[in-house]
Amino acid sequence: MNAIDLLIRDHKVVKKLLEELSSTTERAVKKRAELLHRIERELQIHTALEEEILYPAIKQAGGKEEAKMYYEAKEEHRTVDSLVLPDLLHTETGTLEFAGRVKVMKELLEHHVEEEEAELFPTAKKLLDKDELEQLGLTMEAQRKLLKGEQRAA
Ligand SMILES: [Fe+2]
Ligand SMILES: [Fe+2]
Repeated sequence: MNAIDLLIRDHKVVKKLLEELSSTTERAVKKRAELLHRIERELQIHTALEEEILYPAIKQAGGKEEAKMYYEAKEEHRTVDSLVLPDLLHTETGTLEFAGRVKVMKELLEHHVEEEEAELFPTAKKLLDKDELEQLGLTMEAQRKLLKGEQRAA
């Protein structure tokens, strides 16, 4: 599978999990925690694949415009990974505060995914040829296996 299709497939998974999470009520204490942890694990791997494999390839093949996109996308990752998600993991799942934070995280991620699919990925397709995208996809599959193994061992 090529790198872009692979990442879009991840987006679908995360979007579905976010929908599920935001449709829960304060009574679904355990389910909320489970869904949040699944989202955390999915994002950990997805973000790593983008930041370590696709983003650098775009930055390297592109110019100033691509470098700007690169830094913006990385910053959006950082907002979720180091601010929003850690806060959420420390919020009681049975509270309204939790629901509020989920809503904000969902909006941030949806915006980010939209930008990737509308700008960054089409740019990658322009800058990199079919073989390169296939090759990056293979690298991603291998890296995903490795990271999943690490998650399981943690
Ligand atoms: Fe991303
Ligand atoms: Fe993404």
